[in-house]
Amino acid sequence: MNLTLGIIKPDAVSKGATGKIIDRILSEGFKIRAMKLVHLTKKQAEGFYKVHAGKGFFEELTTFMSSAPCVVMVLEREDAVKKWREVMGATNPADAEEGTLRREFGSSIGENAVHGSDSEENAKIEIAYFFNQLEIL
Ligand code: CMP
Repeated sequence: MNLTLGIIKPDAVSKGATGKIIDRILSEGFKIRAMKLVHLTKKQAEGFYKVHAGKGFFEELTTFMSSAPCVVMVLEREDAVKKWREVMGATNPADAEEGTLRREFGSSIGENAVHGSDSEENAKIEIAYFFNQLEIL
């Protein structure tokens, strides 16, 4: 069993898709080990996405991620990082396969409904950005 960080982004939370996305997470065999609703400041969004600092989309990304609340979660499952990325689908909803969360709930590459860690190493860093050890079951 391993862990990954999942985020239901502001676009999906604002359109009322949180419940459907959580249902899907559970039906794919994940256990939710921690979860909270957070409204990131611009600085917090910049800190979380600092690997993308300097890229053309950084300003748009961090403005969007701090525009409204999102739901951050620690997800546990065998092969959690890979499986969550499969359930999310491709970064650009237009390229995401039918049945994936980004295809169903995303509207553009920037507003793509969900986030997931891209490696086990980054999962540890990203989980620690939002949760301390006492908050993870
Ligand atoms: P996410 O998985 O949260 O990781 C980084 C995010 O940057 C990504 O999802 C996209 O939402 C966003 N992103 C990547 N490329 C672009 C782009 N070309 N334009 C706008 N946003 C992007």
